[in-house]
Amino acid sequence: MIDFSLSEEQKRLLEKARKFATEEIKPVAIEFDSEGTYPEEILKKAHKLGLMYTNIPKEYGGSGFSYLEHYIITEALNYECPSIAQMMGISHLSMAPIQIGGSEEQKKKFIGTMTKSYRSGCFCLTEPEAGSDAALMQTVAEKKGDGYVINGTKRFITNGKYADLLCLFATIDRSLGTKGICCFAIPRSTPGIEVVKVEDKMGHRALNVAELKFTDVELSAENLIGEEGQGFKLAMMALDRGRVNIAAVCTGIAQKALDEAVEWANTRVQFGQPIGQFQGVHFMLADMNALVVASRAMYLQGGWMLDQDIRCSTEAALAKCFASDAAMKVTTDAVQILAGSGYMKGAIVEKLMRDAKLTQIYEGTNQINRLVAGRGILRKPSVLF
Ligand code: CAA
Repeated sequence: MIDFSLSEEQKRLLEKARKFATEEIKPVAIEFDSEGTYPEEILKKAHKLGLMYTNIPKEYGGSGFSYLEHYIITEALNYECPSIAQMMGISHLSMAPIQIGGSEEQKKKFIGTMTKSYRSGCFCLTEPEAGSDAALMQTVAEKKGDGYVINGTKRFITNGKYADLLCLFATIDRSLGTKGICCFAIPRSTPGIEVVKVEDKMGHRALNVAELKFTDVELSAENLIGEEGQGFKLAMMALDRGRVNIAAVCTGIAQKALDEAVEWANTRVQFGQPIGQFQGVHFMLADMNALVVASRAMYLQGGWMLDQDIRCSTEAALAKCFASDAAMKVTTDAVQILAGSGYMKGAIVEKLMRDAKLTQIYEGTNQINRLVAGRGILRKPSVLF
């Protein structure tokens, strides 16, 4: 039987996330965007309520929800402000390689510490010369006895300034390409980690993004996640999960923009009637709503596949680029419907349109995601049944 309804427990969960977003995120969304404020107090409250590490199993201190439930919560939180809510998303992404490839001991140690009291993480993959071509990385992990010494620079690192645990990718031998890349879990307190720059951005302004320099950072073998040379695969598998997450983020952004446009269309009177009575506006709203519904279906499919332990690289890439292009179109059209009132600073749709732009860029540009999807489709096109 195919059933779209939520269980009573899932409904309560969604209500809790919506309530949190309305009460804690909505009132400060515009202010935090304009000031670029780091939302630490909000993150701490989310952690306390079990809304931060929703997909981490209970045995490691998380809330133990399925991927499907985790992404539904993600949409609800991002509805009120993606840059505040994505500070939770990035901590999930940085835990994913440990969840997938870490030993039982590492999961208890690294993930357990993150969930016990409020802690956040970051995912250190991108470098100045290695963005889309992640395998080109120059950050090295030189072997020293049983351990490693890390040297290099990581750029555009979300939560780079504040993260308590860094999930870092470095190569032990550049000539090995992807097979030389290793994944490390690094506590912030490890000597040799320096924040060299904090970025100023067009949108997602409450999202901290920094450049980090690693100088002679000494690690022991227990910081290595998985085996030597397994790091690239762990990064890609984490990004499969992250890209479904971005599709849920985008659905939240687009749903909010649509709701704002609908409210305006019902209340703004021109030529003697609400502008929503004009066919030109009907057509825009119809296309916007179709994009929102389709984006939601795509992230739900990705979440369902992850819960069944089915690889979803193609579906995640398709969902990420479809939903982010959809969010860009829907927010742009929402500004068009609100016109002058939507274009001005302080209007939520103006902020959402700037926020949406990043979703076409991060966690793999949409061009890279189409490439990932294209390669996957050549092996086997994505079909639901
Ligand atoms: N799951 C499992 N294995 C995977 C995989 C996946 N999803 N994707 C690739 N692999 C495996 C491949 O099977 C291959 O294994 P074998 O060598 O054993 O066959 C190996 O990994 C190498 O894969 P590719 O040959 O496909 O590697 P590539 O060099 O051609 O690169 C790429 C592929 C898709 C372009 C990749 O570099 C990529 O995704 N680039 C974009 C990086 C990105 O998304 N960066 C965003 C950073 S995070 C962020 O933005 C947020 C933040 O705040 C930090």
